[in-house]
Amino acid sequence: MTYALERHSLEALREALDVLERGFAHLPAAPTAPLGHEGERVLREVAEKLHDNYPYFHPLYAGQMLKPPHPVARAAAALADWVNPNNHALDGGRASSALEREAVVQLAAMAGWNDHLGHLTSGGTMANLEALWVAGKLAPGKKVAASRQAHYTHERVSAVLGLEFVAIDTDRRGRMSMEALEHELRRGEIGTVVATLGTTAAGSVDPLPRILELQQRHGFRVHVDAAYGGYFGLTGTLAPEARAAFDRMGQADSFVIDPHKHGLQPYGCGCVLFRDPSVGRFYKHDSPYTYFSSAELHLGEISLECSRPGRAAVALWATQRLLPLVRGGEFARLLERSRAAALALHARLAANPRFVTAFAPELDIVVWAPRAANAAEASARSRAIFEACARRGLHLAVAQLPAAFFDHDEAHVTAGAPMVACLRSVLMKPEHLEWVDRIAAILDQATDEVLASAPAATA
Ligand SMILES: Cc1ncc(COP(=O)(O)O)c(C=O)c1O
Repeated sequence: MTYALERHSLEALREALDVLERGFAHLPAAPTAPLGHEGERVLREVAEKLHDNYPYFHPLYAGQMLKPPHPVARAAAALADWVNPNNHALDGGRASSALEREAVVQLAAMAGWNDHLGHLTSGGTMANLEALWVAGKLAPGKKVAASRQAHYTHERVSAVLGLEFVAIDTDRRGRMSMEALEHELRRGEIGTVVATLGTTAAGSVDPLPRILELQQRHGFRVHVDAAYGGYFGLTGTLAPEARAAFDRMGQADSFVIDPHKHGLQPYGCGCVLFRDPSVGRFYKHDSPYTYFSSAELHLGEISLECSRPGRAAVALWATQRLLPLVRGGEFARLLERSRAAALALHARLAANPRFVTAFAPELDIVVWAPRAANAAEASARSRAIFEACARRGLHLAVAQLPAAFFDHDEAHVTAGAPMVACLRSVLMKPEHLEWVDRIAAILDQATDEVLASAPAATA
């Protein structure tokens, strides 16, 4: 049996379009631009061009943080495109602005916030930029600190904002080192600490409770980057340290969560939230063109971007309506399956003498290195196995990580360089749980091939 793309939502979309159309039935008839034969031909051409992608929607794509949106998100976004609302000002998107506010309230509730300021953004980078922009306004001249495993954009965004950035070392599990942070804090120059709850490369969760303790002593702003990991706070299967970090998320000053990562949304949907709504004063501005239709708040008044896609709010609202963001709910169970898949794959790899695993996954990312004589050889093998897997239809990722993450191994096989290219898999589709055996089997065959073609004396 071959793979079939989901199509049922097309029927549902057609029916929803009828409902949408009824709302505008009072308008006089006006011609609509038809797609036409040439348009149909172009559409088929586009479909051909899109073949040149990894199959992100399939369980054998187990590489980066990529997965298809939920069918309801995809259909709701398409439905919104017939209206094409702009959530900058209320006259550009009244209904979708209301849906954005409701959807963001539900995201804020994950941190236990009733009162907050927040809005959707184009993604995690823009959301973090806004959080650091506000942080910089509140502590001018002070530095931003984030771990060396924090997303690379924190350093870049800090530079854009004219804020100095300090990278803090991590421990051997990829979490911000509290000793290194405290050392830096003693200099008295840090205005903001970014705690990452779910690092991009390895899914490590920074020890937020301890960062909050240090905040009491040293006084700084805490921003949580939960762009990738945030939704895991809803799950019931986290290890105690990660659980404790997610439980304290509400004590941060701001946080970022990306619905377009684990929130089942099409790209173009991040979210920034502030605990203190009065930071809205920094956004205050007037628009001579757009804020005339209502005295109510226009979302453009509390966001840095002007035009923003109403479709993102519509899709997110629809998804959260179907799969509410509650602990123990269906959405939480889907995430628990992803984490279970990661733990299962990690256990398989740990039992395989040809690999060296890093720490057990805190969320749903697994990283491991091929056993080798040194870091250079392990790195070369990682790349070769990545390619051999791809030839067999299994798509993993390769990440550069500190060799120390793998250094628990008695053979010190990653010696010789501070960094090693290792294999990485984000098992972010719930279906991955049923595919772990197959993924491990393909990985085994690919590793056989690589070791057979390079029978290193050192193997
Ligand atoms: C922890 C974290 N922060 C920020 C980002 C950047 O988000 P975006 O790619 O949506 O701009 C990512 C992306 O993977 C991430 O994992």
